[in-house]
Amino acid sequence: MSRLNGRVDLDEEERVASNRAAWNATSYEAWVVRYGTPAAEARVLRRDPDHKLRRLLPFLGDLSGLTVANPLGSHGRTAVAMALKGARVTVFDLSSSNERYARELASAASVPLEFHCGDLLSLDLSGFSFDLVVMELGIVHWFTDLDRFVRRVVALAAIGGRVVLQDFHPAKSKAGAYFDEGIKVVPVPPAEILEDDSLPTTMIRRWMLGEVVTAFARAGLLIEELVEAPMGIEAPMPEIYTLVGKRLAV
Ligand SMILES: C[S@@+](CC[C@H](N)C(=O)[O-])C[C@H]1O[C@@H](n2cnc3c(N)ncnc32)[C@H](O)[C@@H]1O
Repeated sequence: MSRLNGRVDLDEEERVASNRAAWNATSYEAWVVRYGTPAAEARVLRRDPDHKLRRLLPFLGDLSGLTVANPLGSHGRTAVAMALKGARVTVFDLSSSNERYARELASAASVPLEFHCGDLLSLDLSGFSFDLVVMELGIVHWFTDLDRFVRRVVALAAIGGRVVLQDFHPAKSKAGAYFDEGIKVVPVPPAEILEDDSLPTTMIRRWMLGEVVTAFARAGLLIEELVEAPMGIEAPMPEIYTLVGKRLAV
């Protein structure tokens, strides 16, 4: 932790700038290594979009004809899979390197995809009103002001629209230090894929489950379901959770 001293004191804007640099460095190249070229991955998704969506589908319902926001949608694989099932999908993500992969993927899969590149906390989100907002696996820990982030993503939904958040369960990700409120410096996932520890690092804040549920309730989401589950077949502890709710008219 010593070489990182000082960086954890940065304010939210500086942390976002640092996270942006990390996510812009080599994401496209990492996704090509992990998933293949956008053309190759598009063939996989076209053949079986349900496989990519297998953990989310029980919570999404029929996607056909829906407008769907996919905040922090990264490489666009989930977005393109949802588009292949008939949704009109819009991704919001910080990284232009992700944007490049997502746009090429959508084009190769022959589905429309809207991508807004920028910090979710500062993008102009006025005028958007989606039937469904879907976020998955690696979301809330990017924000140190949880309430502010949650208010913005809930506001993307139309009144009566649904929000589905599927994220890593803090019982696992905060293992051993559940109440720890510290900001952690961790490698960006593409650096792990490329096994390159010279790449810029990211800063994250891991939230407790109660804090996440409370933030969504405060933001005007009627919480309908909170499901805890393993990621694989068997695990002694939950590894992911899915929160499902409906935006209230408040
Ligand atoms: C681990 S990925 C999310 C997982 C992704 N949904 C998937 O299916 O693999 C995290 C994403 O959050 C994005 N991100 C991080 N901070 C952000 C911010 N402040 N605004 C918008 N996007 C952000 C990153 O660019 C990255 O693509």
